[in-house]
Amino acid sequence: MQQSVPETIDRLIDREQERFRRTHPRSFEDWRKGQAHFLYGGPSHWMRRWAGGFPVYAAEAKGAHIRDVDGNAYVDFALGDTGGMCGHAPEAVTEAAVRQLRRGTTMMLPTEDSLWVGQELSRRFGLPYWTLTTSATDANRGAIRIARMITGRPKVLVFSGCYHGGVEEAHVEIRDGKVGLRNMIHPNGVNHAAVSKVVEFNDVEALERALSDEDVACVLTEPLMTNFGMIPVADGFHAALREITRRTGTLLIIDETHTISSGPGGYTALHGLEPDMLVAGKAIAGGIPAGIFGTSQEVAERLWKIVPKVDPRVRQSAHLGIGGTLAGNALTVATMRAVLEHVLTPANFETMIANASLLAEDARHVIETHQLPWHVMQTGARAEIMFTPRPPKNGAEVIASRRGDLETLLHAFYMNEGILVTPFHTMFLMCPATSAEDVDRHTQVFSRFVDLVRDAGVV
Ligand SMILES: Cc1ncc(COP(=O)(O)O)c(C=O)c1O
Repeated sequence: MQQSVPETIDRLIDREQERFRRTHPRSFEDWRKGQAHFLYGGPSHWMRRWAGGFPVYAAEAKGAHIRDVDGNAYVDFALGDTGGMCGHAPEAVTEAAVRQLRRGTTMMLPTEDSLWVGQELSRRFGLPYWTLTTSATDANRGAIRIARMITGRPKVLVFSGCYHGGVEEAHVEIRDGKVGLRNMIHPNGVNHAAVSKVVEFNDVEALERALSDEDVACVLTEPLMTNFGMIPVADGFHAALREITRRTGTLLIIDETHTISSGPGGYTALHGLEPDMLVAGKAIAGGIPAGIFGTSQEVAERLWKIVPKVDPRVRQSAHLGIGGTLAGNALTVATMRAVLEHVLTPANFETMIANASLLAEDARHVIETHQLPWHVMQTGARAEIMFTPRPPKNGAEVIASRRGDLETLLHAFYMNEGILVTPFHTMFLMCPATSAEDVDRHTQVFSRFVDLVRDAGVV
C-alpha cells in the first residue's frame, strides 16, 4: 500500500536519525550521561533541540568549521544562532581576551577600552548613550524597564511570531484574536494580557488601534522578523510605526540582535531608522556573553530626571533595577572592542554578504530547477530557505504554512552531511571566514536533499 506523505516523511526522519546515531556514538553516549546532571541533558535547554535527536558534542571550532568528539567535521552556518557570527576563535578576539584575562576580568570598574567602545557604538548605530549587559535578553529587559519608568505605562507591544529572548512580555502571540502564549511556551501563572499587547507584523491599522489607548510603554520589534522564518517588512511600515509611536507617546525599541547581519550599523543604520532605543547582543563581543542597549538624547534626559546621573552626597544613589554585576566587565569590553575594530568591519561584511547572496542564489537555482514551491530570503549576511512559494506577510501566515516535518528532515539530513544550521528554522549565517567552498558544499548537500524528497515523492 502507498504511504501517505506525512508517513513517508516520518519514515525518512527515522532513517536520518538512525544514521545520525550510528555515526555519532560518542556524542550519543555523552548526551546519555548528561541526563544525570543537567535538567534537560545539557548545560542549556536550547542544546537539546537539534534535529538528529541529540546534539553533537563539540571538540573544537575555528572560523566557519566545527569538529565533534566523534571526529565528524561540519561547515557551521548556525554560528551559535548568531553568537558565533564573528567566526569561531577569531584571532583578534582571542588575543584581546587572553591579554585581558591576564589583567583582570571583572572588577565592577570601567576600563579605558570602554571609552573607545562607547564612541564606536554611537558612531555605528546613531544613538548617544549606551549600557552594556550580559546578554541580549538582559538588554531587552533593561530597555523595557526604562521605557516603563519614563512613560509610567505598564504594557509592551510586540508582533506575533516574535522572539526577543527570555522576556516574559514577549512570550506572546495572537490566539483567537487575543493575547495568547507563544507557540511552545507553557503557562506560568502570569497574566500576559496585563503586560503585553500583540498585533500582526506589517498591520498598521491594528498597531494604530492597539496604541491608541496610550497604555503601551514601548513597541519592541526586530526591524524585520527573523525568528519565525524570515518575514520581510512591507513598504511604508517603518515610517508608519515611527509616526504612530511618536504620536501616541510610545517608545520604539529596535532589537538588532539578529539583523546586525545587515551591516556594521545593523538594519537601523542601513535604512535610516530612528529608534528611541536599540538593542543588540550575541556576536557583539565575539562570543563572550554580552548585550548592549542604546538610548536617544530624549530618553536619556527623561530618565535622568527620575534617576539622576550621580548625586555625590548620597552614598547609595538610586539605581535602575536592572541586574548585571558582570555587565560591561573588562573582558567583555576588551573583546567588544576587538570585534568592532577588527572583525565586524565594513570589509568583512562585504565578504559575508557576498557569500550569503551566493548561497541564496544557488539555493534558488536548485528550487527553480525542480519547480518547488519554496523560496529563499536574505538579510545581509543571513539567508533563509522557507517551504512556501512566497515570503509570509506576518506570523499568522507562517503558522498556516509552516512545514515542521520537512524542516526536521532537512536539518537531520544536513547534520548527517556535515552542515550545521540553527535548529529552529532553516537559517544560514556567514562569518568572515566562511568561504565560497563552504557555500558550494551547502549547495551540493541541498541538491542531494531535493533529490531525496523528490524520489520519495513527498514534494
Ligand atoms: C531578536 C532577538 N533578541 C534577543 C535574543 C536573546 O538573545 P540571548 O538569548 O543571547 O539573550 C534573541 C535570541 O535568539 C533574538 O533572536
